[in-house]
Amino acid sequence: MAEVVHTPRVFSGIQPSGGLTLGNYLGAMKRFVDMQGSGIETIYCMVDLHAITVWQDPDKLRHATRELCAGFIASGLDPSKSILFNQSQVAEHTQLAWIFNCVARMGWMKRMTQFKDKAGKNAENASLGLFGYPALMAADILIYHATHVPVGEDQKQHLELTRDIAIKFNNDFGVEFFPVTEPVIEGAATRVMSLRDGSKKMSKSDPSDMSRINLTDDADTIAKKIRKAKTDPEPLPSEVKGLEGRPEARNLVNIYAALSDQGVDDVMRDVGGKQFGAFKPMLADLAVDKLAPISGEMARLMQDTGEIDRILADGASRARAIAAPILQKTYEIVGMVGA
Ligand code: TRP
Repeated sequence: MAEVVHTPRVFSGIQPSGGLTLGNYLGAMKRFVDMQGSGIETIYCMVDLHAITVWQDPDKLRHATRELCAGFIASGLDPSKSILFNQSQVAEHTQLAWIFNCVARMGWMKRMTQFKDKAGKNAENASLGLFGYPALMAADILIYHATHVPVGEDQKQHLELTRDIAIKFNNDFGVEFFPVTEPVIEGAATRVMSLRDGSKKMSKSDPSDMSRINLTDDADTIAKKIRKAKTDPEPLPSEVKGLEGRPEARNLVNIYAALSDQGVDDVMRDVGGKQFGAFKPMLADLAVDKLAPISGEMARLMQDTGEIDRILADGASRARAIAAPILQKTYEIVGMVGA
């Protein structure tokens, strides 16, 4: 069969698990916003069904889903340009996931390192949903025939599995139906690390609140956390290679570069030779300038959850309009009567 060329379409998912940090903002939300309006269709999904693979308090889940939606909009996502919705409103995701459960092999799933990490020593007690998580993720992507998926490095293996599922489905049924998706992996240069330990990722679950900037922090808190961030005693180098072996310095420079939309090289040229005593106030001003309006806007949006729910319902109906015919065609290929 002739090779089918798929129109480029961006899809990504993010878990509404509560507690958004600067890491989520720079690694996902800002990146997603930057991709919108480039002429390529962009679809962003809050994966509430993935969240419940480990137990979630229902009220907290509802709050986290709405807060994530508010965070996206406050970060500049335009719901008329991108499709923004929560996964559970579009049943086609789980319907395709079932088909993929029957395509993916036990051996493939058992090799998933995220399952091994999350299930820990007590894998017998993990939910079946946690084991099947990557097949639902493949369905999230392929139900839109998405071609490009921006994610963090930790999702690389899941995207390889998505490609394997698409290829096996196409082979098993002798079709060229699902695209073989391209991962768009976030570079190490944009990964945001802990403010207390430059070798650890910034995380909402770190016991120290000083290790992270939350998107709900006010201006004073943001400035204080940057002032107290761990550094080393040397002045900043004027070239990137001078940051080698200085993870904390590298992290603060990366954050500066990402927030000011500059390359790390350009930042080094400007700040090379400065002591942290001079650089930290610059970074604090920049961070407050960029982040305080976002937290303010999130708080404002959260006062009217009706508006958020309308945006999500509208996104879901636009998502469904793309997903339904693709599910229909999948059912036909598989041999379901009535499809
Ligand atoms: N597993 C992803 C994460 O934890 C979230 C996710 C679910 C996702 N479905 C997706 C990401 C589809 C990209 C595409 O980060």
